[in-house]
Amino acid sequence: MKRQIVTFTLLLLCALPLAAQKKKEIYKDKNAPIETRIDNLLSLMTLEEKIMQMNQWTYGKNANPNNIGEKMKEVSPMIGSLLYRSTNPEYRNQIQKKAISESRLGIPIIFGFDAIHGYRTVFPIPLAQACSWNTDLVQQSCAITAKESWLSGLDWTFSPMLDVARDARWGRVSEGYGEDTYANSVFAVTAVKGYQGTNLSDKYTIAACLKHYIGYSLSEGGRDYHYSDISNQTLWETFMPPFEAGIKAGAATVMSGFNDISGVPASANYYTLTEVLKKKWGHDGFVISDWGSVRNLVEQSVAKDLKEATQKAFMAGVEMDMVDNTYMDYLPALVAEGKVPMATVDEAVRRILRVKMKLGLFENPYVDVVPEKKRYLLPEYLKTAELLAAESMVLLKNDNSVLPITTKYKSIAIIGPMVKDSVHIMGFWEGMGRPQDVETIYAGLQKEFKGKAQLNYAKGCDFDGDDRNGFTDAVSAANKSDAVIVFLGEKRNWSGENGSRSTIALPKIQEDLVAELKKTGKPVILMLSSGRPLELIRLNTMASAIVAIWQPGTAAGSAVAGILSGRSNPSGKLSITFPQTTGQIPIYYNMRESARPNSGHYQDIPRDALYWFGHGLSYTNYSYGSVKLSATKIKKTDKLIAEVEITNTGDRDGKETVMWFIKDPFASISRPMKELKHFEKKFIKAGEKAVYRFEIDPAQHLSFVDSNGERHLETGDFYVIVNDQQLHFELIE
Ligand code: BGC
Repeated sequence: MKRQIVTFTLLLLCALPLAAQKKKEIYKDKNAPIETRIDNLLSLMTLEEKIMQMNQWTYGKNANPNNIGEKMKEVSPMIGSLLYRSTNPEYRNQIQKKAISESRLGIPIIFGFDAIHGYRTVFPIPLAQACSWNTDLVQQSCAITAKESWLSGLDWTFSPMLDVARDARWGRVSEGYGEDTYANSVFAVTAVKGYQGTNLSDKYTIAACLKHYIGYSLSEGGRDYHYSDISNQTLWETFMPPFEAGIKAGAATVMSGFNDISGVPASANYYTLTEVLKKKWGHDGFVISDWGSVRNLVEQSVAKDLKEATQKAFMAGVEMDMVDNTYMDYLPALVAEGKVPMATVDEAVRRILRVKMKLGLFENPYVDVVPEKKRYLLPEYLKTAELLAAESMVLLKNDNSVLPITTKYKSIAIIGPMVKDSVHIMGFWEGMGRPQDVETIYAGLQKEFKGKAQLNYAKGCDFDGDDRNGFTDAVSAANKSDAVIVFLGEKRNWSGENGSRSTIALPKIQEDLVAELKKTGKPVILMLSSGRPLELIRLNTMASAIVAIWQPGTAAGSAVAGILSGRSNPSGKLSITFPQTTGQIPIYYNMRESARPNSGHYQDIPRDALYWFGHGLSYTNYSYGSVKLSATKIKKTDKLIAEVEITNTGDRDGKETVMWFIKDPFASISRPMKELKHFEKKFIKAGEKAVYRFEIDPAQHLSFVDSNGERHLETGDFYVIVNDQQLHFELIE
């Protein structure tokens, strides 16, 4: 018996390493189910290894290119993620190799970066992209960004930004899709599809990150990083839907915001991060903090020190700490003291490992290394950049059809600080875009008008300052020309992160330049480059035509020149309202009606915005037929079809976007004056017609959410609104 026990024990001892070995192999087995692989891996990991997965470090920041390879030695092979600020795929592969071969379990690193509107090929800023209303082009731009990024060593982008933005003083309006909740939801899905493709483990796809969850754009007074007072009704009605749509589309990750949501900061908010995101919506990826937003909980006065900040963020549902090392420094003690349960640590690490597995990083940890000329700025990428830039430009005004510049103009003055610029025109978050790759407006115009019109250039003035010495040359260029085109705008860091401004007007010197040029009596055409809507109340009266060109990116020159020459027919429509003055903010198309609709408006400016959401002219004319409804009374389970036929009555081909709004004039919770529910953009040849259609599904299009996020569908009167037509219908049980 004794001998048997000894033999059995010996057998067991020999077998154990084998079993452990077997067990160890499961997570490496690409054919095993992901959750089984993760169970196996978690069972093998030490606490330290788990905690390391939850940290992101930066690589390449301020690094001298001569020693960036040296810097690699400082990277721990156990680190979970790197914010990778190099374009070199070989360094990435070397760092990855270090993680795979030098860490005990060989867990790959996930490399992330802000490729927000392009990587090396820079597309227009997202606010502009939304003005194109062209989801195909936006999706293509995201797919190109993913490909350029992946080939530079990235697995992950911190995009799209889904903060519905209604205060243009906030510089980050440039990074999102404008003031409308539905538009942000549609572009959320578009961006996720573009970045992630159909399978995250495919080459050239990268994980998306929905940010900044949630309500960041409501920072008081548009001051970045400030407190945001958000009622639960607004949270659910305005801010949640784009994130929910992005999650449903399969977004792998989410970033928690800097802002304080009515006393509970977004990065310590159990309700939004766990109850809603994870439990209600079932998100199975992970949440990364914003840069330092865990440590900020101390500044926001909800944590007495970094340790408590760590506990609060982690327990609320932030799984990865961006750059601060708070998790690395404080989680071990918090676990030892029983303040953070081991099960919560395991769940957090599981989420991170799940995303890595879905990306296929365990099987294919390395990216392909191809020469830069095959990686960046390929002709088809530049073409997409030009098309998207052109379609995002909005013709705000065009008195007497002064545009396009046809043969009626033999010489044109081109004036302004934007003409030869190659930096600001890319906008904020230009990725790895380089000024030397930008086709300037000047270059674009030279190409477009060669042999057709004489171009007389003068800079006129700088973006700001008081130096008016250049005005004289500008006026003489105008005097010898048939028309004057002035290219004004904002510097890149006047919008974007930390780009808040107390006034959204352009600096006085730019307005003064226009006033001087106006005195020449020549038609003045304004081309405005900005990362936000501008206060145009003075400029508007001085200009015959105005085009919002936004910050169009690498292909700026051709896109702008095409709009001016008429090679491209403008088709952009505003994704955000232009107020009369800064003081009119907030003003957005879907406000709620006031108790006294005809009173209470500012006395010193017109009641309306200068240019409302949805505004945008074309060089052709579209005539809208009468909207037809398939019924005037429908049941909750029915569908209602609305159709409108549109004729291009002008002599140019064009693309027209139809926006379908719903108005619910009476409900148990007050409703906005109207809400966008559907849009469609179609190409219509000159003289031809197209039919646009909206299938109204009551549950989806006529319901509303309450302050708990519960949907309600109430019977009664409704209106469908297209352009200036408003048709009544009734919803019955
Ligand atoms: C920004 C994020 C960005 C992150 C990483 C933060 O300061 O708020 O939008 O993704 O930095 O660069």
